[in-house]
Amino acid sequence: MSKWTLCGSGYDREQTVTDGNRFLCANGYMGLRGVFEEADSTWFPAITLSGVYDQYQDRWREPVNAPHCLYARVLFNGRAMAIGALEPVSHRAGIDYGDGLYHRDTDFGPVAIRSERFVSMAETHLLCDRIELRCAEAGEVTLYTGISTDIWDINGPHLFDFGYQQGEALLVRAVTGEKRITVASAQCIQADFAAEETFEQQDAGLFRVLRCRVRPGDVLCAAIFGAVYTSQDVAHPAEAAQALCRAMKARGFADCLTAHRAAWAEISRCSEVHLEGDDDAALGLHASQYHLNSIAPRHADSLSIPARGLSGQTYKGAIFWDSEIFFFPMFVYTQPEIARSLLRYRIETLPGALKKAAAYGFRGAFYAWESQEGGEEGCTNFNVVDVFTHRPVRTYFRDKQIHISGDIAYALRSYYEITGDRSLLEAGGARVILECARFFISRACCHADRAAVDYADVIGPDEYHERVTNNAFTNRMIRHTMESALLLREIFSDRADWFDGLLRELDYGRDWQLLHDLCGRIAQPVVRNGVIEQFDGYFALEDCPLDTVRSRLCHPREYWGGDHGVAGVTQIIKQADVIAMLALFPEDFPLETIAANWAYYEPRTEHGSSLSACMYALTACRLGRPELAWDLFMRTATIDMKGCGKEWAGEIYIGGTHPASNGGAWMIAALGFAGLRMKNGQPEIHPHLPEQITRLSFPIVAGGRRLRVTVTRDWGVIDSDF
Ligand code: BGC
Repeated sequence: MSKWTLCGSGYDREQTVTDGNRFLCANGYMGLRGVFEEADSTWFPAITLSGVYDQYQDRWREPVNAPHCLYARVLFNGRAMAIGALEPVSHRAGIDYGDGLYHRDTDFGPVAIRSERFVSMAETHLLCDRIELRCAEAGEVTLYTGISTDIWDINGPHLFDFGYQQGEALLVRAVTGEKRITVASAQCIQADFAAEETFEQQDAGLFRVLRCRVRPGDVLCAAIFGAVYTSQDVAHPAEAAQALCRAMKARGFADCLTAHRAAWAEISRCSEVHLEGDDDAALGLHASQYHLNSIAPRHADSLSIPARGLSGQTYKGAIFWDSEIFFFPMFVYTQPEIARSLLRYRIETLPGALKKAAAYGFRGAFYAWESQEGGEEGCTNFNVVDVFTHRPVRTYFRDKQIHISGDIAYALRSYYEITGDRSLLEAGGARVILECARFFISRACCHADRAAVDYADVIGPDEYHERVTNNAFTNRMIRHTMESALLLREIFSDRADWFDGLLRELDYGRDWQLLHDLCGRIAQPVVRNGVIEQFDGYFALEDCPLDTVRSRLCHPREYWGGDHGVAGVTQIIKQADVIAMLALFPEDFPLETIAANWAYYEPRTEHGSSLSACMYALTACRLGRPELAWDLFMRTATIDMKGCGKEWAGEIYIGGTHPASNGGAWMIAALGFAGLRMKNGQPEIHPHLPEQITRLSFPIVAGGRRLRVTVTRDWGVIDSDF
């Protein structure tokens, strides 16, 4: 076991659901929840596929879970040696965040099951499990492995028309209901013991049954090779899945594991932050990086990452602003090709954003708040279910959270500024920025008697206050988008013909003038004693402590926001909003302003979203107060190890991993504690190490150069790396 191993010994249902997230194995193509092999769907096991969505009847569209091809169950003398069926003598499970190897060790008395498994970082479609049975009594052992079709779905079922094939490589294939996408799971096994082999096909799947007699002390070992393909990947997914399983069986478990580990070693080399001085913090940061790295779309060049990663179907497997504002920074500084993939996804889904803007009567690009394949909007008008009436509540995230288009433009410009590479802007990025700016032109409210341009009826990052006017964060993002659009002419000053051609193609002549006109007129927020008002009228709301608002709840799962929520009429906010603006535009604001806003807003913030704490931590570092950042950093970095994120919004289950916190942990370490930032195309550091950390060292790529940042209490340096 390496120092990056996290273990747990619980196995009740609640703990198992949490462990499914904490011990997730993933490779960007799929996520295998960290649940023991024999689990049926009531324990929430899943192989969640990235970028494959389906809608069942009128339920929410969500990602598809594949038939489970690492399913295995053990019987001794016909009795199930399985959690849920038999109380184990002992049980431990865990994951090594160094190489993504999940392990479990469960002693049932007559048989102890030990296994280790991984989702291959070297072979996109491969999952492997090595299972060892230690026998304490004489009797008959049955190893029941195969492909389970007992699939955990939140809004399913999604798979129909199942087809089965027995043989060396078992196969289950099915099609999704909505788009008829074929999903194929295959499985091969390499057992080191002689056994009688039969097959069983049932409603719950296709299984291979290996039976043999054992004596006390016998150890049976089998390697299981699973593969998943869909018709989005290849023309013949079933054949591809079977072929991969067979090939990997021929190669052997040890070789597959070596290749997987080598791939992880390379990822660590490019991205790992070494933190010295506090072992818990080092483990938390490592776990965070593991989680975010494990769900990066390395197999695709235009795909993004869902808000709950690949830990299941929560949040409809959709892409939020989390991608651009929270995941993107780690990737752009460490593995820019992944940052490119996240942004290409937005470039390719521009048609969806144009369509959405038009549907609301606007021009330009209004990106989906919860984006699925093709930029399709996954967010419904009723995104929360009231715990009292059980009725869906009208929410406005979909139609009013317009900052999403600005967040995307922000990341596109950051990509250019950090990498110095404008090819992404040429390949559609400039077009996206221009269309986002055009959306903001058409969304502006101009007045006959006032020069200031308002943005009315919006929702800022703090979702508890809906339909507000002039949310400071949103207005700042809009200005940035407009400025970025205007800046494009300068960026392409040596390619003026190309840029003018693009403006002509987009019929942008009048909008270009409007950009110039509007950009400097966007309403500025009210500032009182240095505190920026979150939106017009915010200061007039009831100003009471967070605990008072909490005490008004009638139900622990009650939703705080919206028309009837306890927070809406008060100044209590869900997550960083003004502070998020200060974190993203630190150069714009003097330190006194950051200090005044931090002191005002932090006590008024519920941190009810995993996107909140890191923004406060970043701004605390900016203030030179890393001691204020420490607890927020620890909360951010350990959220998925502890499994302590929010699990419910109203009646909706929102549990899973928290990639935004994972990215936030990297941001606090690199951009906060080390103070990394770009200035005129060059990286700079402004370290603010908290007393708990003695040394931080991490690789970055900036301006096309591979560099290493090292910071100690007394010095900091950016060297060339590799
Ligand atoms: C947050 C959003 C976030 C979403 C997905 C919500 O709870 O308020 O800002 O984008 O979760 O992480």
